[in-house]
Amino acid sequence: MKSKRILLGITGGIAAYKAAELTRLLVKAGHHVEVVMSEAATRFVTPLTFQALSGHAVYSDVWDARPDNAMAHIEMSRRADVFIIVPATADCLFKLAHGAASDLISTMASARTCPLIVVPAMNRQMWENPPNLRNVAQLKADGVSVWGPAHGVQACGETGPGRMLEPEEIADLLHGFFDEKHLAGRRVLLTAGPTFEPIDTVRGITNISSGKMGYALARACRDAGADVTLVSGPTALPPPMGVRLLPVQSANEMYQAVLHEVGHSQIFIAVAAVADYRVKNRSEHKLKKGEHLPQLELVENPDILATVASLPAAPFCVGFAAESQNLLEFADSKRRRKKVPLLVANLAQQAMGADDNQVVLLDDAGQHPLPLQAKSDVARAIVAHIATLL
Ligand code: CTP
Repeated sequence: MKSKRILLGITGGIAAYKAAELTRLLVKAGHHVEVVMSEAATRFVTPLTFQALSGHAVYSDVWDARPDNAMAHIEMSRRADVFIIVPATADCLFKLAHGAASDLISTMASARTCPLIVVPAMNRQMWENPPNLRNVAQLKADGVSVWGPAHGVQACGETGPGRMLEPEEIADLLHGFFDEKHLAGRRVLLTAGPTFEPIDTVRGITNISSGKMGYALARACRDAGADVTLVSGPTALPPPMGVRLLPVQSANEMYQAVLHEVGHSQIFIAVAAVADYRVKNRSEHKLKKGEHLPQLELVENPDILATVASLPAAPFCVGFAAESQNLLEFADSKRRRKKVPLLVANLAQQAMGADDNQVVLLDDAGQHPLPLQAKSDVARAIVAHIATLL
């Protein structure tokens, strides 16, 4: 993402302290961040904190007469690429939904020309209060993006909806906010991660796939405007925001989940490193060491990608090939065998577990090598390529 001018509004809730970490993450990512605070927000965290983190003066008062602030409500929101309010209190949502211009933040929101994002945080009862939900519905109808709230334990000790998204989640969503909406209105189904094929109650066969490439692709599809479902084998990764996650363990569970979902999807991207075999008779008890070496009888797992690609109303299918040698030759024969229009070839020893990846895209037009780059950038490039083929 290119450097953006981000106007960060902070209103008065206890989650305001998390806006400090968000400011740090956005500045670290190379963005120009300017902060405005409501008077109530300055009771929770000082403007000095945000001035130090953003490197710019912080405004909180419409009557502040510093030269830069002469027409702050117009100037600051006009030169921003986006205005994001973190946290947005119930009072802030009320003001925005009603077009109020009664303090610096609501005045700036009224005078802005850039997109507006609100990230609510409040007690669950306040969130579910019918007038608040009406205000949220009004804001959405007005084209405002409402991110969250999450469900969870709140500062007040209660549990429910109203918890603010974490700074990392907000930074991740903001990162994709400006992406081209190549896949707007499309439904995308993905598989990711390894599968786990049980031998007994505590052991199994798996592989070293981390799930990072599949999760990065799920995010890239989401950022391109798609409605995304991710069927994931066991990984240590946090669920991507705004993506429907269906966790599974074995190849068979992944197969069932995919067949259940695929009818609604226009695009299927198989990133998972699916175990080719499973143990025929898994033991219902933990196997004990005995005199004889146990023999594991293996049976082949269904090929999820090949099955989906051969459906009568198959979605646009994208496969991955993880090879350790003869990359392009093996990948090309895999593409033809599985009958998929696009295959992403990568070296297993370079890709698995790493944060970066170097891939070659194979389609009917030939080979398209991409540079070694972060998996998030590889994912964006794959999404852009898919869009050209649809
Ligand atoms: N795949 C799948 N179901 C399987 C095996 C693989 O959907 N049972 C998908 C993978 O998600 C990937 C592609 O098929 O998109 C190729 O996977 P890969 O493991 O590289 O190939 P295999 O078909 O397993 O062939 P081989 O192990 O011989 O390389």
